[in-house]
Amino acid sequence: MLALTSDIVHCHPVPNFSHVLLQTERLSLRPLHASDASAILSIRSNPTVMRYHSSLPWTSIDQAYALIAVAAEALQTGDHLRLGIELKQDLSLIGTCGLFHLDEQCRRAEIGYELHLDAWGKGYMHEAQWALLEYAFSELALNRIEADIHPDNIASAKSVERLGFRKEGHLRERWIVGGEVSDSIIYGLLASDWRSMRQSQPV
Ligand SMILES: CC(C)(COP(=O)(O)OP(=O)(O)OC[C@H]1O[C@@H](n2cnc3c(N)ncnc32)[C@H](O)[C@@H]1OP(=O)(O)O)[C@@H](O)C(=O)NCCC(=O)NCCS
Repeated sequence: MLALTSDIVHCHPVPNFSHVLLQTERLSLRPLHASDASAILSIRSNPTVMRYHSSLPWTSIDQAYALIAVAAEALQTGDHLRLGIELKQDLSLIGTCGLFHLDEQCRRAEIGYELHLDAWGKGYMHEAQWALLEYAFSELALNRIEADIHPDNIASAKSVERLGFRKEGHLRERWIVGGEVSDSIIYGLLASDWRSMRQSQPV
């Protein structure tokens, strides 16, 4: 189903992500631009999208410009990889996804992602994450990817479980957001898990 191509500049020891472009059947995963600010604010100002996020719903376009600037610098420095999820059909930006907390020695990273509410339930994040995970395991040679999910975030848990992530642990009172204290469920996916799943489910 996915026609994945990637154009990578990957220099050791610090990866440069500035040319990463991942293509799937319906999506382009590409760097964010200043012109994406209103789409990002539209995603992140929605209380349902932000219910289990590490920050409260956004209220200002400046927050979107700040995220885009940080993401652009991180692509250059290799600090993290955040890509916009663009719908090929109409070039609209429907979300972002990326790899954070990269640990070169342990070949490990954490995924982060969100979709505009109107784009939920259509398999877009599954498609995007599939491409991102393939890139992470094949091109970056990572060994382990983690997801840190609020215990009540059922949509997110289902999304990572569909990709083969396993529930590994329950961390107590890991987050305090807007005064609300919450636990985390930690999910993990190993390169070996991914290879087995790719063999049995070659999407
Ligand atoms: C987490 C989030 C991205 C999941 O969105 P999603 O659309 O459910 O994710 P997926 O792409 O995995 O889609 C799977 C859903 O689409 C449906 N679907 C439709 N076509 C599909 C296809 N071709 N392939 C896969 N799933 C498809 C599935 O049946 C499934 O629906 P279900 O859960 O009702 O069974 C979304 O809920 C979100 O943005 N949440 C807010 C931000 C957030 O919590 N981020 C994570 C922080 S840890």
